[in-house]
Amino acid sequence: MTTHRIFNFSAGPAVLPEVVLDAVQRDLMALPGVGMSALEISHRSSNFDAILENAERELRELAGVPADYRVLFLQGGASLQFAMVPMNLLPSGGVADYLVTGAWSKKAVKEAEKIGQVHVAASTEPTAFARLPLSDEVELSPGAAYVHMTSNNTIYGTQWTHLPETGPVPLVSDMSSDIVSRPISVDRFGIIYAGAQKNLGPAGVTLVIIREDLLAQSPAALPSMLSYRVLADGGSRYNTPPVFGIYILRLVLGWLGRQGGLAVMAARNDRKAAILYEELDRSEFYRGVADATSRSRMNVTFRLPSRDLDVRFVQGATAAGLDGLEGHRMVGGLRASIYNAMPEAGVTALREFMREFERTHG
Ligand SMILES: Cc1ncc(COP(=O)(O)O)c(C=O)c1O
Repeated sequence: MTTHRIFNFSAGPAVLPEVVLDAVQRDLMALPGVGMSALEISHRSSNFDAILENAERELRELAGVPADYRVLFLQGGASLQFAMVPMNLLPSGGVADYLVTGAWSKKAVKEAEKIGQVHVAASTEPTAFARLPLSDEVELSPGAAYVHMTSNNTIYGTQWTHLPETGPVPLVSDMSSDIVSRPISVDRFGIIYAGAQKNLGPAGVTLVIIREDLLAQSPAALPSMLSYRVLADGGSRYNTPPVFGIYILRLVLGWLGRQGGLAVMAARNDRKAAILYEELDRSEFYRGVADATSRSRMNVTFRLPSRDLDVRFVQGATAAGLDGLEGHRMVGGLRASIYNAMPEAGVTALREFMREFERTHG
């Protein structure tokens, strides 16, 4: 069995903190004081009550979730949220505004169009999603049911740094790839959702933070498993939740708290990203995919002078223990995903590899 760990730059599922993996391994046969594995406990047991309560409490503390917001641990990934948001919040005759900044936003639009009327309030597709919309490019509809955005565009490597002003219209954000990577002004949002598999834990858990008053909008005719109201009433346990995934998520949140919280993580993530962007800016050999104004701290996208060199870079990096650097198939090139759990040592190892590769291939 190998215990040697390489640096995992995958966009997701992604690297987890080693102390979390150690704790999971240590307690896999029996949770201390419980005598059973977290894989085996009932979702109605007091043991799971404690896990769920701790996960929610730690998230509330870390992200400053106000009391009038509900925290839900669901399933179906962010992709199910693309459908659930309009199913719950878009009434017939209403319109929902979408800020289209990448492939995931487009998927969100596609699902919403099956439910009701969608207005694309801005799209940066003509720039190949290399940047985010300028504020004067956003045309919101008066009286929209909500405005949907994607806070970090995993595939293109862009990230919002300011929030669009939506007045009383609820802002809904897909935060799958930058949740808990920096402080969040939760009270600026109606709904925040995220698949867990980048910054929160393993695949299979979906976090939803929803302002309580919005629950009343879930139509009574919705199937129960698609209704925020039913799922919130059930305390994330309308059906069997992903117990093991929530257990790991709770460990990740505990780790985040011990690091010092989201402001500390943001500073760390800024520093890690700066190391790689400095390298892109220093060199003619590497070219960033995202405009400098819109760069993501989570996914650093770049290209080499030819496709052939891209391929050789990935092969060489993999052999050097730097895994998962191939860009998304829609964009090509390279992508280094440097979520919370990627240590700075991984980023500097990548920088050294980039320098050596440039020296030998440039
Ligand atoms: C921004 C964003 N939204 C949505 C998704 C889809 O998430 P899921 O696979 O959990 O449905 C991803 C996956 O990478 C993503 O990065």
